[in-house]
Amino acid sequence: MAAGLGTRMKSETPKVLHRIAGRPMLHWVVTAARAAGAQRVIAILGHKADVVKAALDASFGNGAVEVALQTEQRGTGHAVQCAMPAVQSEPDDRIVLILTGDAPMLASERIAELTAACAASPAGMALLSTVPPRPMPYGRLVRDASGVLQKIVEHPDATPEQRAIRDTNAGFYAIRLGHLRKDLAALRADNAKGELYLTDLVAHALARGGATAIDAPFTEVCGINDRVDLAQVETEARKRINEAWMRAGVTMVDPASTFIDADVGPLGKDVWIAANVALRGKTTIGDGVRIDLGAVLNDVQVAENVYIKPYSVLSDTILGPRAEIGPFSHCRPGTRIDEDARIGNFVETKKAHLMAGAKANHLAYLGDASIGTKANIGAGTITCNYDGVGKYKTTIEAGAFIGSDSQLVAPVTVGRDAYVGSGTTVTKDVPRGALALTRVKQVNVEGWADRFREAQAKRKQKPDNDH
Ligand code: UD1
Ligand code: CA
Repeated sequence: MAAGLGTRMKSETPKVLHRIAGRPMLHWVVTAARAAGAQRVIAILGHKADVVKAALDASFGNGAVEVALQTEQRGTGHAVQCAMPAVQSEPDDRIVLILTGDAPMLASERIAELTAACAASPAGMALLSTVPPRPMPYGRLVRDASGVLQKIVEHPDATPEQRAIRDTNAGFYAIRLGHLRKDLAALRADNAKGELYLTDLVAHALARGGATAIDAPFTEVCGINDRVDLAQVETEARKRINEAWMRAGVTMVDPASTFIDADVGPLGKDVWIAANVALRGKTTIGDGVRIDLGAVLNDVQVAENVYIKPYSVLSDTILGPRAEIGPFSHCRPGTRIDEDARIGNFVETKKAHLMAGAKANHLAYLGDASIGTKANIGAGTITCNYDGVGKYKTTIEAGAFIGSDSQLVAPVTVGRDAYVGSGTTVTKDVPRGALALTRVKQVNVEGWADRFREAQAKRKQKPDNDH
C-alpha cells in the first residue's frame, strides 16, 4: 500500500520515494518482500503514481513490480480492493501479504514468519503487532479473556479503555486470498474516518477462530509520517547496515559517523573505515582496503588493498589494486586508476585513465585524459580539455614525464618516454622520447636585486617622500 498522500512530509516528492540509506522507502519493502519469496509484487499507487512507478521501473526493471491504481484514497481496505483485479486468476489458497509502503525496516525474515503463521492459522490470517515506546495513534488489538484476537479498533474509534491497550497493529498482514476476496467485499465505512478499514478483516477472521498476531520490535515496523520519523528510521537503518558489515569483517572506527547506503556492497574482508566516511550508490570495496577520514565515495569500484586517504571525494570511478588516492583528491565520473597508480592532494580527475603505476602526486587537473603506465605528472599540470565549445582528449603515453606547471592543450599526445619541460604549454604532439619546451630563455641581471634594495632604502629616508 503506497497510495497515500504523505501530507506531513510537506514535500513535492511522494512520501514512499523519500530515501532511507540512499534507497527509496518503498524499495525497501519491495526488496524485503522479494527476499521473503514473494512471487509477484503489486504496488498500490495513487498520489503521483506515475512518478512512483517510474522509480520502481528504474530500480527493479520495467513492470517487474506491478501497479494497481487507487485514484481516490478511501482507506486501506479500499486500497486492497483496488488490487483485487490484479490477482483475479490466482487460486483461493494463495497467501497474500499486505505490506505498508511507508515502513521500510521490515526484515524479510519477519515477512517469512508472518507467512508461516498465516499458513498455520486455521483462520487463514496473521498480522504483526507491536508495542510502541510512546503512545501512537495506532489501531489497538482487542482480545477476549482467553487471548483470542477479537478485532482491531482504530485510534479515532477507540474508547479510553481500548486506548490503554499496549498491543497495537503494525500494519502488516498475511491472509489466504479466498478469505480476502470474501471479507473485503463485506467492508463498510461505518467508522470515525468514514473509510474502508483493512483492519476490520480481523473481526471477520474471528468466525474462523481468530487471526494470529506476531509481536515485532517497534524499530522494525515503525512507519514514517514526517521527517522526524524519517531521520529516526535512517539512524536505525544505518545501524543495521553497519552491524551487518562489521560482522562480515569490516572495521569501523566510528560506526555512528559511518554512512553506508543500502545498495553498497560487497565490502571485502579486513576493510578499514575511519570516521565520517560515506559510501553511496553502488560502491563496492575489495579486501584490505583502507578508507580514511572524511572520504565520500559514490558509485566507486575499489579493488583490493587500495588506500583512500583523508577527505577524498570520488564518484563513478574504478580503482585498481593498491592504488593510492588523496589526501584531498577529487575523482569525478569516468575516472579509472589502475593498479599501483597514485594521485595526491588537490588532484582532480574526470574521464581520466591512469594506467598501472602512473603518478600525479600534487595539484593537477586531468580531464579527458589517457595516462600510460608509469607516466609521471608533475605538480600544477593542467589538461586544457575544453575550449568553450567542445571537449578534447589528451594522451600521455607510457613512461612520459610531464614537468611541473605544464598545460596540455587538447587534442594532443605526448609520446612514450617523452619529457615535457616545466612550465611548458604543449599545443603540438610530442614525439616519442623527445623533450618539449616552450619557455622563454632565462635572463640573469647581475646585481640587480642589490641595487633595487639600495634605491628603495634611500627613498624611505627622504621624509617628504613619505605619503
Ligand atoms: C493503519 C492501520 C492501523 C495501524 C497503522 C500502522 C488501518 C485502517 N489502520 O493506520 O491499525 O496501526 O496503519 O501504521 O489500516 N494507504 C493507501 N490508500 C488509502 C489509505 C492508506 O494506499 O486509501 C496506504 C498509505 O499510503 C500507507 C498505508 O496505507 O502506506 C497506511 O495508511 P495510513 O493512512 O498511514 O494508515 P494509518 O491511519 O496510519
Ligand atoms: Ca501511517
